[in-house]
Amino acid sequence: MKKTLLTLTAAVALGLSSLSAFAADPIVIKFSHVVAPDTPKGKAAEKFKTLAEEKTKGAVKVEVYPNSTLYKDKEEMEALQMGAVQMLAPSLAKFGPLGVKEFEVFDLPYLFRNYDDLHKVTQGEIGKGLLDKLGAKGVKGLAYWDNGFKIMSANKPLKTPDDYKGLKMRIQSSKVLEAEMQALGAIPQVMPFSETYQALQTGVVDGTENPPSNMYTQKMHEVQKNATVTDHGYLGYAVITNKDFWDKLPEDVRKGLDEALKESTDYANQIAKEENDKSLEAIKAAGKTDVYTPTAEETKALQKALAPVHAKMAGRIGKDLIDSIYKATGFDPSK
Ligand code: LMR
Repeated sequence: MKKTLLTLTAAVALGLSSLSAFAADPIVIKFSHVVAPDTPKGKAAEKFKTLAEEKTKGAVKVEVYPNSTLYKDKEEMEALQMGAVQMLAPSLAKFGPLGVKEFEVFDLPYLFRNYDDLHKVTQGEIGKGLLDKLGAKGVKGLAYWDNGFKIMSANKPLKTPDDYKGLKMRIQSSKVLEAEMQALGAIPQVMPFSETYQALQTGVVDGTENPPSNMYTQKMHEVQKNATVTDHGYLGYAVITNKDFWDKLPEDVRKGLDEALKESTDYANQIAKEENDKSLEAIKAAGKTDVYTPTAEETKALQKALAPVHAKMAGRIGKDLIDSIYKATGFDPSK
């Protein structure tokens, strides 16, 4: 009783407007990412924000920082581990530096024929097993968000494997992507996403690979004369959080966030293909890039040139994991 009176007196003394200061402050989730807001990941992050705030009735406030405004690729992983941000959705190609090399399996060329193959992995036991591996790094894997299949670009036509010889190609920080470019005789250059446009513009690198949604929203097509719709590999995301932060959330808050995640994941995976199809059309319409669709013969030749990457990377990623994916999708690209 005495305590209540004291609290009330203090509140009155501070003035009525300060009364809300006595209510609990919202839990802030900083969600940092490196792509534009109008991409599959950017839109899904905004969707998550809306749903999370709604479902936790304001107990959580989500701040989304797109376009590397808060952290670049490598820094954002460190920031998450240190607790400076609470959520990220890095590309699956960027988990090697964290010490979870197995995610690079998703970078293997021609591993998936389409989104259906991919979902057999990301929405099944293999996907879950991979997310669980993050626990040892103080990171909790929450979900997979789709982006799409990559196209190759440069300032010259890319039709045969020979066309890639000697080209400096920007890649994400994945050893599999390094091996992929080397298999084509290209020179891989690991570089943060935020620096790629400028590197292409100034000629620091000659070309790159990315799904159309990333190329278009970063305006990379404006500094690439040629693009080939190779669909030679997949780029998508693992949504992750700081494990300690997540485990300490009040039960009802975590439940609300889980629901928000589930719905925003469904949303991300529904819009990804359409967003990429739209971006490819937009790149064509912009008229700055000659967009080429390879013939069946040309695709076969590229497939053949890239096939050895699977065996070469088995030691790093694990042959069992690679084989389990062939089995789950019913597709072994080496056959
Ligand atoms: C890239 O670095 O090319 C991509 O990982 C960017 C992204 O997050 O889609």
